[in-house]
Order: sequence, then structure tokens, then C-alpha cells
Amino acid sequence: MTERTAIRASFSRAATRYAAAAGLQRVVCDRLLELLPDRAARRVLDLGCGTGFASTGLHARYPGAMHYAVDFSLGMLRAHEQGGRTARVCADAHHLPLASASADIVFSSLMLQWCDLPVALAECRRVLREGGHMCFSTVLHGTLAEIDDAFAGLDAHRHTVSFPAPEALTAALTGSGFAVELVRRETHVEYFADARALLQSNRDIGASRVPDGARRALLGRAALRQVCNRLEAGREARGVPLTYQLAWVVARASSGDRS
Ligand SMILES: C[S@@+](CC[C@H](N)C(=O)[O-])C[C@H]1O[C@@H](n2cnc3c(N)ncnc32)[C@H](O)[C@@H]1O
Repeated sequence: MTERTAIRASFSRAATRYAAAAGLQRVVCDRLLELLPDRAARRVLDLGCGTGFASTGLHARYPGAMHYAVDFSLGMLRAHEQGGRTARVCADAHHLPLASASADIVFSSLMLQWCDLPVALAECRRVLREGGHMCFSTVLHGTLAEIDDAFAGLDAHRHTVSFPAPEALTAALTGSGFAVELVRRETHVEYFADARALLQSNRDIGASRVPDGARRALLGRAALRQVCNRLEAGREARGVPLTYQLAWVVARASSGDRS
């Protein structure tokens, strides 16, 4: 099984629990919908659409458009709430089965962190018309730091994705032919009743798989207890914290100078 197949399987397994577990994802998606540009659009993509949190908002903003809900997880697409004029497309963001310069808007909430960023951005740029908009949310370096720290030294594998620094994200956008119009960043901390609830929640949103080619070894009980103890050591009055470095970006497809 390749790592990308494993990530896809992880999201498919999570599909039925996702909507209930993904409170933060819903808020992030709603904030991204607010940033959509006021413009005419004939074709709109929701890339990494999941169960369709953005569907109603995208239809409301672009009622005359044809909408494409794209996800590489069949489980997520099956759970997707369908609106009118929506084609559900099972495809990988790295190789979209869409014609070049065919879309006006690519909307993507919390998917890009699972991708090879330059490859996925180049593919988004390819399908966007000149002047089209890429509106996405993602997470940056420092996200899930508590999980990284809790697993440190216990095995040879990473337990979270290697999230990009803000400068790397901007450079990848510019290098892929985008002019950045807006970036918003925010630190958000989620609190959990205990360490096990924190780890379970990460599994329920399908996020416990990492795409660095490392196979996750099963941790023994003692090691898992140590992970939980380390997470519990960070407990605050509101519970056991988990940090997200969130970013919302609006960028325009531009054939301008990429240097
Ligand atoms: C955290 S969920 C976000 C779902 C949705 N956008 C939302 O806001 O709830 C990430 C989604 O991206 C999808 N995904 C991850 N990597 C992908 C890829 N390479 N191509 C297509 N979809 C991908 C997953 O299957 C999952 O549905």
C-alpha cells in the first residue's frame, strides 16, 4: 500500500464519524467561505471536499455555476451532501481529470497539508483560468506540536505531517503562478477532556496518518501510556491542549513574473 493510498483509506474509514468530530474543520471552512471573491464563476471546484461542509455556501455564492466536489476518498464522497448542479469526482489533487484553464474558482479547505504542496498547487494553477481564484485554508508549522512532542524518541517515525512554514507556503504559491491577494493566520487551541480523547479525535477526522513514507509501528502499551502522560503533563484549566496554526489564503492565477 503506498502512503497516499493509506491516507485515502484513513479518510474513508473516518468518513462516517468525520462530520461529528470535525468541529474545528467546520469553523475553518465557514471562515474560508466568507473570503470568497465576488465574481462571476461558471465552474467551481471544492477540492478535498470531504463530506461537503462547503457545499451549501458555495452554491449560495455561485448559484449559476457548475460545481465539482472532488475528493480522492470514496467514503467521503459517499457521505457528501449533494446539492443541485454538483458533480462528485473521485480524483487525486495531484492529477485532476479536468481540462486546463477550465475553472474559475478552486476552493479547498484543510486538504493541502496532505499533499505535495508544489505539485498540488501547480495542478490547481493548471485547471484555473487566467485570473481565476484559489481560496484555501491549511495548517502551518507548529500544528499538532503537542502530538509531535509526546511521541518524540519513542519510535523512529513521524506522527504528524511536516507542515510548511508561512514563508514556504508563500514561495510555493508564487512559484506555481499565483499572486497572493490575502493571507490570514491564527493560532487556535482545542481542548480535550483527556489525552486519549485527544488522540481519538485525531483519528476520527482521519488525520492520524502521515505522508512521509514512514510506516507507523504499533506502539506497545507502555509507550502509549508514556504518550498519554506527556500529553497530560501539558494539561491546562480547560483540558489537554492541541495547537493548530491556521492559515486562510486567497490567490489569483496569474501569468506574471514568477521569479
Ligand atoms: C480534513 S478533510 C477536509 C474536508 C473538507 N474540505 C472540510 O472542510 O470538511 C481533508 C479532505 O481532503 C481529502 N484529501 C486529502 N488528500 C487528498 C488528495 N491528494 N486528493 C484529493 N483529496 C484529498 C481527504 O480525503 C479529506 O476528505
